[in-house]
Amino acid sequence: MKITTDFLVIGTGIAGLTYALKVADQGTVSLVTKRDIDVSATQLAQGGIATVFSAEDSFAEHAEDTIVAGAYLSDPEVVDLVVAAGPQAVRDLIDWGVQFSRKEDDQYDLTREGGHSHRRILHAKDATGKEIERALVEAASKHPNITLYQHHIAVDLITEAKARQQPLEKNRCLGAYILDKNNNEVTAFGARFTVLATGGAGKVYLYTCNPDIATGDGVAIGWRAGADVANMEFMQFHPTTLYHPHAKSFLISEAVRGEGAILRRADGYAFMPDYHPLEDLAPRDIVARAIDSEMKKYGDDSVFLDITHKDPAFIKDHFPMIYETCLGFGIDMTREPIPVVPATHYLCGGLRADKDGETNIQNLFAIGEVACTGLHGANRLASNSLLEGVVFAKRAAEISLSRLDEELPPTPAIVPWDCGNATDSDEEVIVAHNWDEIRRCMWNYVGIVRSDKRLKRAMNRIDMIQKEIDEYYWNFHLTSDLIELRNITTVAKLIVQSALSRHESRGLHYTIDYPEKDDAQFLHDTIIPGAKYQPPDTQQ
Ligand code: SIN
Repeated sequence: MKITTDFLVIGTGIAGLTYALKVADQGTVSLVTKRDIDVSATQLAQGGIATVFSAEDSFAEHAEDTIVAGAYLSDPEVVDLVVAAGPQAVRDLIDWGVQFSRKEDDQYDLTREGGHSHRRILHAKDATGKEIERALVEAASKHPNITLYQHHIAVDLITEAKARQQPLEKNRCLGAYILDKNNNEVTAFGARFTVLATGGAGKVYLYTCNPDIATGDGVAIGWRAGADVANMEFMQFHPTTLYHPHAKSFLISEAVRGEGAILRRADGYAFMPDYHPLEDLAPRDIVARAIDSEMKKYGDDSVFLDITHKDPAFIKDHFPMIYETCLGFGIDMTREPIPVVPATHYLCGGLRADKDGETNIQNLFAIGEVACTGLHGANRLASNSLLEGVVFAKRAAEISLSRLDEELPPTPAIVPWDCGNATDSDEEVIVAHNWDEIRRCMWNYVGIVRSDKRLKRAMNRIDMIQKEIDEYYWNFHLTSDLIELRNITTVAKLIVQSALSRHESRGLHYTIDYPEKDDAQFLHDTIIPGAKYQPPDTQQ
């Protein structure tokens, strides 16, 4: 089966939905998502969206905070561009119906998070992403040109090189093969423009506050098709996720510290002043490392986030969702500190995208967390990600629309998916086992504190697992679990390869073998070129 569309958008978080809404008046949009439309990392975002929205603040200061948090690896031009586009991006969201929290005087309430020199974060209580997703889903669902494919997962991209079965100097994206999870059938979607808005890759690690869908699909399928990736070593660990046997890494927003919460050891000692002048509001990489170090030093299972000195009414009003969720686990945050540990939260690297969100494969765009645009550098400033998602979605939409009427070069026919001699697997346990092994290996050897020895150990394990998966992949019918396993393995390998090549410590990449920053040699992105085209009979 084959479907033809103008715009193929994979992913339904803030970036994918914004792009779809911006282009839908001009052409047909196929909107593909792995689960229900509102299952995305956006939906779980608590803190908010950072932008300059008060007279005391300035673009220069937002840019400076972004660059400092990013350990000077951000691209200053990209930072300026995103920061300056922020207020309009927020107004667009408001026009689509997003309701941000307001103060009693009806002005927008601006909160604060680590690394920000001003209050500049618009939020909807402590469930900002949910409100944004609600409004965008509502708008997209009403649009007659948007066709939604829920419970569909991208298998691989279709490129001109693949269609012609030969390597090309300049490759072009022609669409993607998509598996319908309801019947396990693969359809070829031919598209003028293909947009990867698939989010992050927190599930590559054992403990993450990402949703289950965050398996790095976009990075993996983009890289396999030949798109370059950058800065994969910079995986951000959120310092404070709830430590509870049944909580599945529930996030405790940084805004809680922004409103005065203090990190304490089990013995009550407030340790952050020992690590950074900004104390509990230091950039996230520093806070996560401090917690890791305190837990290891004292053999504790967690540290504690204490906001009990604030008025209970204030806590319940500002953080209703966090308050209720903690209470559900038997923790009343108005009366007792919350046990917290770090967990993976945000991938700062990804598919290299230019200022319009386009990759090195023509007509293939990467927007949102899947992309590495140059904004975040070595560590993302809190609440800059929703902003980046909207700004780059709009830019990608504008350039796509400007090219929509251009005459296309001769385009080879897209062949239907060929499952070869694959049969149904009778050993699904291998998939489950390998999933677990990769995630444990990444957590143990490629975590907050790294070393060459641990990274090499991780690489050996991942190589072995990859061989097993490749064999399995071509012999058995595709399932969603197998596709995701193949993707997390690819992404794990890209992370380790990048980490091994950076012989310094910067931002989120900290290694005991090279504990200092080395600007002379490493003040640049870590780039891994996209995979070379391989003819089908040699494909692994
Ligand atoms: C949070 O609420 O702490 C998350 C905000 C972010 O990661 O940008």
